[in-house]
Amino acid sequence: MYDFAISAADKQALYRELAQALDALTADEPDAIANMANAAALMWQYLPELNWAGFYRAIGDGLVLGPFQGKPACIRIPFGQGVCGTAAATRETQCVADVHAFRGHIACDAASASELVVPILYRGRLVGVLDLDSPVAARFDDGDVAGCTNLMEILGPRIAG
Ligand code: SME
Repeated sequence: MYDFAISAADKQALYRELAQALDALTADEPDAIANMANAAALMWQYLPELNWAGFYRAIGDGLVLGPFQGKPACIRIPFGQGVCGTAAATRETQCVADVHAFRGHIACDAASASELVVPILYRGRLVGVLDLDSPVAARFDDGDVAGCTNLMEILGPRIAG
């Protein structure tokens, strides 16, 4: 059992503690699925106001659903489609305050109002994307982008296969 005492006073401290926990969870484990599963569970457990947290993996010419927490989601997303496919195609983080205003947004859960998608790269190769959804509009800010980017820098080499 892993029971992390994460009780951060502010967002920066929260992401610092999450980074330590993610590092501890994944450092000695070579299995990509296990590491993505624990990363999704960690973020789901400690980041407030989420209705979906998980991964899509870059396979062939699109994204394929990976480990996640939340409602069942669409399985395959072509590069360039939706928020996830846009992050994958551009390799740029997508921080979307209002998903209904994002052209091509794929609604997996009607409750989603805002979304953060961070591409995961390893040695110049796209491994997949982290996808966080929230029922709260404009839930994600620069602090979340910085925090999640750091988390994916830790995780990337440990899910690259
Ligand atoms: N909304 C995403 C699809 C994935 S689900 O949110 C889990 C998108 O537009 O790519």
